[in-house]
Amino acid sequence: MNDSSIQSNFPTLNKRKSIEEFVYFDNACTTLRPKSVINAMNKYYEEYSVCGERSLHKLGKMVSDKVHETRSLVARLIDARKEEIVFTRNTTESINFVAYSIDWKKGDVVLTSDKEHNSNLLPWIRLSAKLGTVHAVVKSDSNGSIDLLYLKELLEKYNGKVKLVAVTLSSNLDGITNPVLEIARLGHRYGALILVDAAQGLPHQSVSVKKFDVDFLAFSGHKMLGPSGTGVLYGKKKLLEEFEPFMIGGGTVVKSTYNSYCLENIPERFEAGLQDYAGIIGLGEAVKFIQKVGYKEIARRDLELNKYITDYLCSIERVHIIGANEPEKRGGIISFYVDGADSHMIALMLDEANIMVRSGQLCVHSWFSDKDIQGAIRVSAYFYNTLEEAEYFTKTLSNILKAV
Ligand SMILES: Cc1ncc(COP(=O)(O)O)c(C=O)c1O
Repeated sequence: MNDSSIQSNFPTLNKRKSIEEFVYFDNACTTLRPKSVINAMNKYYEEYSVCGERSLHKLGKMVSDKVHETRSLVARLIDARKEEIVFTRNTTESINFVAYSIDWKKGDVVLTSDKEHNSNLLPWIRLSAKLGTVHAVVKSDSNGSIDLLYLKELLEKYNGKVKLVAVTLSSNLDGITNPVLEIARLGHRYGALILVDAAQGLPHQSVSVKKFDVDFLAFSGHKMLGPSGTGVLYGKKKLLEEFEPFMIGGGTVVKSTYNSYCLENIPERFEAGLQDYAGIIGLGEAVKFIQKVGYKEIARRDLELNKYITDYLCSIERVHIIGANEPEKRGGIISFYVDGADSHMIALMLDEANIMVRSGQLCVHSWFSDKDIQGAIRVSAYFYNTLEEAEYFTKTLSNILKAV
């Protein structure tokens, strides 16, 4: 697909007459949605907006079939079994689900990297305060990814006590991808479970939970062309079967009496109450769209855009790129800060020129506090962005930097 045929699928991009009206470089926050996703959701509301999985009538069956279809599509995307896919509202809920469900003992240890999004940090801090677990942080190495030697040291230090290693696949701070395969091998050798936050990774690279051998994988629909309020938790079957659902009610039981109940099988026992059917159906369409474009093409376009913007930024002395300077290590993300200039001010000046980026501490406050850096500007591209847009960004930033 060329630029214009890709862009023609996105109503938000179709509305503009020229790129000066609108350049969206905040895709790590949330992506734009293609027409096929919007249409599928509208179709649900217009043609069969009923309850799935319980009502046996024809429209109910249509909903149930679509929910099953999305579950199969998601399972195939990450190489999992259908029953291992639990629909949630987002990555945050998926991670909290795991934090709630593991049978913690005082003194159990959770290891994370030093670049986790708040959603993969706060649950572990709170757990320590509430249950007396220990949260320890594995530093990144000079390449910006988790330091495997340091990880090994901590696994040895807490020998037998590390219950979970919870790491991001790709960082929303700098786009760097962690070696999840090695992390899982190492963690498992010491008896730990592995949770991967794939919120940033999965929109840009293919993931096989089987190959990586991870125990849990969390991601959000809205970061990969899907609807807001849709997320997924993958969990290994035998682990999910041991979990006590953290919400129960309608849809989670096969039967109940006044004083007992019998839970549904996995994954339905975890999906309490009437579900976001339109969202789940839209998520299925998003998966289809990503597969149509293909991860190879997504990676090619990420690199092309990242390289162009990185080359420009590296030529300016006041600018510091976070993470590695090499664009091929950072997916679609280019985060940077400018000596003597406030990141929010630059973001607002870019916005004046209709270029949308993210600024501040990017929900990784812990890293910024530790490094004593005030904030960053994050440009995050996706496959529908173009070199023309990247060029418009560099020209605009160049003018801004003359003024600040
Ligand atoms: C790496 C990472 N993890 C978790 C999240 C949280 O995602 P959500 O807000 O969809 O739960 C984000 C969102 O930016 C993220 O980038």
